[in-house]
Amino acid sequence: MSAHNDAAFLRMFLLILGSLVVFTVLILIAASTITGSVEEARGDDPRVRAAVAERIRPIGAVNVAAPAAVAPANETPPAPSAEKPMAAAVVPAAAPASPPSAGAAVDLAKGESVYGMACLACHATGAAGAPKLGDKAAWAPRIAQGMEVLHASAINGKGTMPAKGGRVDLSDADIQSAVAYMVNASE
Ligand code: HEC
Repeated sequence: MSAHNDAAFLRMFLLILGSLVVFTVLILIAASTITGSVEEARGDDPRVRAAVAERIRPIGAVNVAAPAAVAPANETPPAPSAEKPMAAAVVPAAAPASPPSAGAAVDLAKGESVYGMACLACHATGAAGAPKLGDKAAWAPRIAQGMEVLHASAINGKGTMPAKGGRVDLSDADIQSAVAYMVNASE
């Protein structure tokens, strides 16, 4: 009787143990299948790649509109039907945009406003030995050095004058405009 009970218990015990082992193996397989597909989705999904590329995109990009403007003009006028329309559409918009911006590099009105906010403090009063605006005698020998030298001095600093008059947030073009304004007013 007791031997029979032991045998029945052992059978039940092994049955439960076996089903737990099977259950564990199934869980392991399911887990590895799920993680595998998640990793795959992370790396290979083109939408994920596009999103990552967008997120790590540099803030600036090289504008190649001008060279593109030359190419279609020299190339095959007759048959650029399939691929060219986009380039052709971009070119007229881009081409007129560049000459005005090049011409705006030296802008006396802009120069006056830059002078007013960044240079006047020293150059209106002659503080720290700065050549005063409109002081022809002080400016003549400096102007004689040429605009290139004056631009470099103003941008990089000279003597007690700090680079860009201390306003390093201003662009080189702004500083050049201010120099042009000062020279114009002091010749
Ligand atoms: C902190 C005072 C100060 C400010 C602000 C300042 N300058 Fe000057 N600047 C000077 C002094 C001083 C000199 C004379 C430097 C020397 O010859 O040693 C000078 C000289 C110059 C010269 C002549 C450089 C040369 O090579 O002879 C130019 C051009 C000039 N400044 C442009 C500017 C412009 C443009 C600004 C504003 C963006 C500006 N400065 C702001 C003090 C200043």
